[in-house]
Amino acid sequence: MGLPDEPVFLRSNAIIEPLVDRFFAWMHIVAPVQASMNLANLQVPLLESYVQNPQVHLAASNNPALRGGYFVNIEESRSNEVAELLDGIKRDRADMLAFAAAVAEAEAMLEQQASGFDLTPFYPKLPAALNGLVELAYDTNNQASMRYIEPLVYTSPVYDRGRQSVQLSLDTGVERPFILSTPRLPMPGVLDLPLHFDHPGLDTLFAARTAPTTLGRLREALELNDAQAAQLATLLSDAPSLSPDRHIENGGRIRYFGHACLVLQTPDVAIVTDPFISTDNRHGDRYTIDDLPDRIDYVLITHGHQDHIVLETLIALRSRIGAVVVPRSSRGNLCDPSIGLYLKAIGFNVIEVDDFDEVPFAGGRIVATPFLGEHSDLDIRAKSTFLVQLAGATAFIGADSSGIDPVLYRYIKGHLGKVDMAFLGMECDGAPLTWLYQGLLTRPVTKKMSDSRKLSGSNAKQAADIMRELDADEAYIYAMGEESWQGHVMATTYTEDTYQLKQIDEFIGWCTDNGITAEHLFNQREWRW
Ligand SMILES: [Fe+2]
Ligand SMILES: [Fe+2]
Repeated sequence: MGLPDEPVFLRSNAIIEPLVDRFFAWMHIVAPVQASMNLANLQVPLLESYVQNPQVHLAASNNPALRGGYFVNIEESRSNEVAELLDGIKRDRADMLAFAAAVAEAEAMLEQQASGFDLTPFYPKLPAALNGLVELAYDTNNQASMRYIEPLVYTSPVYDRGRQSVQLSLDTGVERPFILSTPRLPMPGVLDLPLHFDHPGLDTLFAARTAPTTLGRLREALELNDAQAAQLATLLSDAPSLSPDRHIENGGRIRYFGHACLVLQTPDVAIVTDPFISTDNRHGDRYTIDDLPDRIDYVLITHGHQDHIVLETLIALRSRIGAVVVPRSSRGNLCDPSIGLYLKAIGFNVIEVDDFDEVPFAGGRIVATPFLGEHSDLDIRAKSTFLVQLAGATAFIGADSSGIDPVLYRYIKGHLGKVDMAFLGMECDGAPLTWLYQGLLTRPVTKKMSDSRKLSGSNAKQAADIMRELDADEAYIYAMGEESWQGHVMATTYTEDTYQLKQIDEFIGWCTDNGITAEHLFNQREWRW
C-alpha cells in the first residue's frame, strides 16, 4: 500500500468494534434510557470492583466455569487505565448517571405514593432529569409507572454521542474478550478512532470491500493523521476478495452463515437475518463476508439481544443495506427500547413492523409473525419472528422464540398457510433474568426468582409443537451460538451432556419418527432450488 491514489480494497478480515465508553456497543448500552441504567447499575460498579481487586477479576476471567460472567479481563498492569476510564465516566457522563438516579427516585415515589388517585401532583415532584421526558400512567390494575418519551431522550444530553468510538483491526481468529464485561483498551495493531457510529466515513471504508477506493480518499473520509493513515493501510489490499458465487441467476437459495444469520436470495432480492458474520476467510468451513451479495435489500432483526443485533457486522454492511426491518417496541417501557430508534440513530434506513405486517418485494414477501418468550417474562414487544416467501418457498425464521403456547402457531398457519422450512432456536436452558437485565431492574429480585425466568428458546416438546402446528416439512435448529467466531458475544460452552444438545437430539428423533426432515445446523449449509 504505497501511493495515496492507487486503487485499494478493504481486506475481508478487517473488523470494526464499535465502542461506548470503551465497552463493546450493544443496544442496552447505547439506547439512552437503558444505557443510563446499565452505566449506573452495572458498568460503574463493575469497574469499581475491578479497580479494587483486579486479581479476582482476572482469576475469574480465566476460570472456564465462570465463562460469560461479569469479570473484567484486563491484566493488572493496566488497572490504572481502567481507573482512568472509571474517573472519566463519573466526570463526563454525569447527565446519564443523574438520569438513572432520577429513575430510581421517581419509581420509589410512585410505588410509595401513587395509590390510584390523580397523578398530576406527581409531575412537579419528579427529579429534574426526567422533566419533559416521561409520562406517568396507571395500568388498569392501578399500578403506576413511567413511560419514557424515547425519541426526545435521544435529543437530550442523556444520549451523548461523544461516548462513541471505533476500533479497526484485523481479525486474527483469536477469541476476543467477552463483550458484556470487558472494556477495550488501546492495543498495538488496533486503530482507535473517535468516530460516531453514524459517521459517513465508515461507509466509505466498508464500501471498499466491493469497489475500489484510494488511501487518500479514505484518509480524508475518516479524518486521519499520518500515523493513523499508515495504520489504516495495513487493513487494505490491492485486490478484492469476493466469492464468484455470491449472487444467483435463477431460482432461490438460502445459506446458513452461522448462529441466527441466514441469507435468502433470488436473482432479484437478497435478505439477511440477524447478521453476525465471520470475517476470517482462511478456513473454508464457513461462509464469510466474502460470500455476501453486493447489495442487501432487507436485513431482518428478530430481537434486541446482543447476538442478534451485532453492530460489528451491521455497520460494516450499512453502505449496502436497503432497509433494516425491525419489530416495533411498546414505545417507552423501560425494558423495551425501540430497535427502530436505536438503528436510525446509527444511520440505518429502518422499517418498523408489528405482528402480521407485510413487506412485499418482487417475487415474494416478508411477514412479521409473533415471537413468544425468551425475554425472562419482561414485557418486551420489540421481538418478531418472520415468514419469508420467495421463489415459491416459505421459510419460518423462528429465532429464539419458544413454543410456549402451541396454539399460536395454529393461528399463524391459518393466517399464512403451510411452511416448508422452519428455522428454530433451541437454546432451552438460557441465562437467568439478571444476566442481561440486572441494570434495568428497579426492584431487586431474589436469585431464585431470577433463575426461574430464563432467556430460553424452545425445548424438544415446544419445537415439536411448532412443527406440528405449522405443518412444516423441514426443521433446522440454529441460533445456538456454537460457531467458533462468536465467542466474544456468546460465551457459550456446550459439552455432550449439555441439556440443550440432548433436547435437540430428542427433537430430531421426534422429527424422524414423524417423517420430518431435521438437522442441527453448524458453521455452514446451503439449500438451492
Ligand atoms: Fe435471544
Ligand atoms: Fe439468541
